[in-house]
Amino acid sequence: MAERPYIVGNWKMNGTRAMLSEARAIDRAAQRYMKVEVALAPPATLIHAVHREAEQIGIGAQDCHPGEAGAHTGDVSAAMIADAGAKFVILGHSERRQGHGESDALIADKVQSAIAAGLRVILCCGENAETRDAGKAEEFVLGQLRAALPKIEDAGDRLTVAYEPIWAIGTGRAAKPSDIEAMHGAIRELLDEMYGEAESAKIRILYGGSVDSKNAPTILAVPEVGGALVGGASLTAEKFLGIVVGGSETVEA
Ligand code: 13P
Repeated sequence: MAERPYIVGNWKMNGTRAMLSEARAIDRAAQRYMKVEVALAPPATLIHAVHREAEQIGIGAQDCHPGEAGAHTGDVSAAMIADAGAKFVILGHSERRQGHGESDALIADKVQSAIAAGLRVILCCGENAETRDAGKAEEFVLGQLRAALPKIEDAGDRLTVAYEPIWAIGTGRAAKPSDIEAMHGAIRELLDEMYGEAESAKIRILYGGSVDSKNAPTILAVPEVGGALVGGASLTAEKFLGIVVGGSETVEA
C-alpha cells in the first residue's frame, strides 16, 4: 500500500446540484481522515460548483477532448475542465472505450493534451470476462497501458493508473485479492520498465470494480494497491466515507 491511499469517487452520469450536499459532506469528513487522499470526479456540469465548495478533496473530470479548442460540438477540452477547477481527469474508462468507441490511440492523445493543460491523469485499463477466461487479461491490460502511457520525465507527479476489470464494474462482484495482486504486480513491472523505479514508485495503481465499505479494507491491503476508483458507492457521503475510513485504517500508524 502506498503511504497515502488515493480514494477517488467517479460519479459517472449521476448528479445535479441537489447532490452538492453529498460532495460537501464528503469534503468535510475528508478533513478528519488526512491519511487518505480523497477526490471526486463529478459530471462536467458540476465540476465548478463542487470545486467552489471543496476545501480538502481533489476535483477532477471524467473525460476530455484531445484538441485544444474549435468545432467539436458537445465536447470539452482539458483546458476548459482545468478552468472549471479540475485538477485531474479520468481517461480511458471502459465505459468510454465501449460506449464511445474510444481507441488506445485516441486515449493516448487525450493523455497528452491533459498533461499539457497541467492536469493529472488517472488512466484506466481493464479486460472483459472473455479475455480473462481466455487467460489473456495481463497481456491485454499491459497492451492498453503501453499504448497510452506518455513518455514524460515527471510521470510520478502526473500519473495514476486504475485497473478496472470490466466484469467487476457495477456487478457487485469485485475481483479476488489474488487476481488484483497479480495484475497490479504486472502493471508495476511495466511502470518500472518505462519510467525507472524511482519515478514508478510515485505512481499509484488504483483498483476499481464494485469496491464498497465491506471489501475496501481487504482490497486496500493488497500489495501494490494504492487506492480505489469507486463508482456506485461514491454517490452518497455515507457509503463513500465507509471506504475512506477503511483506507485510513489500512495505513500504518
Ligand atoms: P462501481 O464501483 O460502481 O463498480 O464502478 C467502478 C468504476 O467504474 C469506477 O470508475
